[in-house]
Amino acid sequence: MSETLERKRVLSCIQPSGMLTLGNYLGALKNWVKMQDEFETTFAVADLHAITVRQEPAKLRSQIYSTYALMLALGLDPEKSTMFIQSHVPEHACLAWVLSCNTQFGEMARMTQFKDKSAKHADNINVGLFSYPVLMAADILLYKPDFVPVGADQKQHLEIARDIAIRFNRLYGDVFTVPDAYIPKTGARVMSLQDPEKKMSKSDDNLNSFVAILDDKDTVIRKFKRAITDSEGGIYVSEDKKGVSNLITIYSAVTGKTVPEVEKEFEGKGYGDFKLAVGEAVADELAPIRERYNKIISDKGELERLFRDGAERAERVARKTCFKAMKKVGFVV
Ligand code: TRP
Repeated sequence: MSETLERKRVLSCIQPSGMLTLGNYLGALKNWVKMQDEFETTFAVADLHAITVRQEPAKLRSQIYSTYALMLALGLDPEKSTMFIQSHVPEHACLAWVLSCNTQFGEMARMTQFKDKSAKHADNINVGLFSYPVLMAADILLYKPDFVPVGADQKQHLEIARDIAIRFNRLYGDVFTVPDAYIPKTGARVMSLQDPEKKMSKSDDNLNSFVAILDDKDTVIRKFKRAITDSEGGIYVSEDKKGVSNLITIYSAVTGKTVPEVEKEFEGKGYGDFKLAVGEAVADELAPIRERYNKIISDKGELERLFRDGAERAERVARKTCFKAMKKVGFVV
């Protein structure tokens, strides 16, 4: 393989949640795995972001471990990517402070996710929840990525990170790279199995609406058997067949077959057969991940060695950028 001298840089982070879903996998994580070969990649578990909503300490700790372990099980490779836990690199919080003093209240108040989340957590509208996008900007800008893969719900935050970088560079001189959103060529928007108008979400009250990456085979198949379709019959993608379309998207993302190929494969077949086939394909894809996960999570020592090492590598990069930004602002460094 030819080694190009300067590969483009990619960074993304994921919040530690015990139950990453098939949506997270097909929509984001599966692409991260692919990107490792093309880009210089940095991936972090965003634990600092997690405490913007209330967390039970013991549960948070175990979810940080399990999210890191799951990233490994999915195929992220510490030899290829820098993989770390956000709070292990103190420059994130440090730069976030500097950036927050260069971000306007009005800019943050416009963020739609803040509005949604503060409505949802009305008893805990904390300042961190408000300034969350500034911390995310720090995560990004420290590593000077060219691209940041983000889902639709994070696009507004990436826009703000770009605005913050541009403004800082203009005020203090060139410090940050202004990153672009990365829109993958493949990558599926996976919808709820019970309400295909909604995105698949682990916080859905209806447990049949999402498949967790770590669900076992029977559970996966059962959830697909119960997936909402329609009363019409016919297996093809269409605006008024959102349930069936979602299942086709999932099957296509898992098998690598194109949508027309999938439609052809199931021409004339019933929903029962189709749902079973999708369930089996998904279960087969997830089974080896679950197996690897179980092995990885049972060796805490090795897991810790990997994330400490990742944090050291990350900090070498982060320190330089943070130092430069602090110097430009006028701190004695
Ligand atoms: N806010 C992102 C989410 O909830 C996670 C995240 C934190 C992130 N820092 C980031 C994503 C930096 C991309 C880049 O999904």
